[in-house]
Amino acid sequence: MSRALLEIQHLDKHFGGLHVLKDINISVAQGEIVGILGPNGAGKTTLFNLITGFIPADEGHVSFRGHSLRKMKSNAIVGLGVARTFQLCRPFVGLTVLENVLVGSLGPRVKSDDLGQRAMDLLDQVGLLAKAHTPSELLSYGDLRRLEIARALATDPELLLLDEPFAGLGSSEIEALSTLIRQLHKEQKLTILLIEHRLREFMQLVSRVVAIDFGEVIAEGSPVDIVNNPRVIEAYIGKQNPLSPSHDA
Ligand SMILES: Nc1ncnc2c1ncn2[C@@H]1O[C@H](COP(=O)(O)OP(=O)(O)OP(=O)(O)O)[C@@H](O)[C@H]1O
Ligand SMILES: [Mg+2]
Repeated sequence: MSRALLEIQHLDKHFGGLHVLKDINISVAQGEIVGILGPNGAGKTTLFNLITGFIPADEGHVSFRGHSLRKMKSNAIVGLGVARTFQLCRPFVGLTVLENVLVGSLGPRVKSDDLGQRAMDLLDQVGLLAKAHTPSELLSYGDLRRLEIARALATDPELLLLDEPFAGLGSSEIEALSTLIRQLHKEQKLTILLIEHRLREFMQLVSRVVAIDFGEVIAEGSPVDIVNNPRVIEAYIGKQNPLSPSHDA
């Protein structure tokens, strides 16, 4: 069995009296697309914040390629090859789209001789080339989501954490972004952790799902297993099957 790329063991987090993550254990192998599923407030974004060093855990360990991420600052974790996008897009206001991507290129992993061309190639890949010189604050919501991904890719990650990349997008934009995520996985061999509430598209993308409710892992398995799991149906999915074509989440 291959060694895990990302190993999360006994992770625990409180915010004051609120126990937000409870003894979370998740192992992600290289090349997987793992979905994190759960209702609003379940603790999904907090999990990403702990993995990426934005906030410290109370207990437990996260390791990436065998390196403990405990006590590492978020920039150092990016330097190891872990990148994320945010649920709420956060462009560097006052910078153009291209400049935003260039900032992402400044980390230690990027060895290119021509950072400008590399950034333009990334914008081309996410469909933003024509807007390279647009101030980022003028982008539409869908384009901001693409910029988030381009900035994350600019750091040359091995593991990409996507926090609700489809939120607020229309069907055609979601389709285009799903295609991009598949390409990143297949062609660039990225391992991906995906949080998303658009269930049909989510289930079509992921190879495995970890379902969380009230900060606890309540189920883990293939998309088919998860949509038929009674605890997940009760906590989140309801009676409709998101794998059926008629479902519109
Ligand atoms: N920095 C913080 N300080 C205090 N409470 C927080 C903080 N961040 C999150 N919480 C609380 O922790 C719980 C989990 O929040 P989190 O954002 O991780 O949920 P989520 O699963 O990502 O939900 P959603 O699907 O709505 O994005 C919520 O009750 C939230 O209000
Ligand atoms: Mg969230």
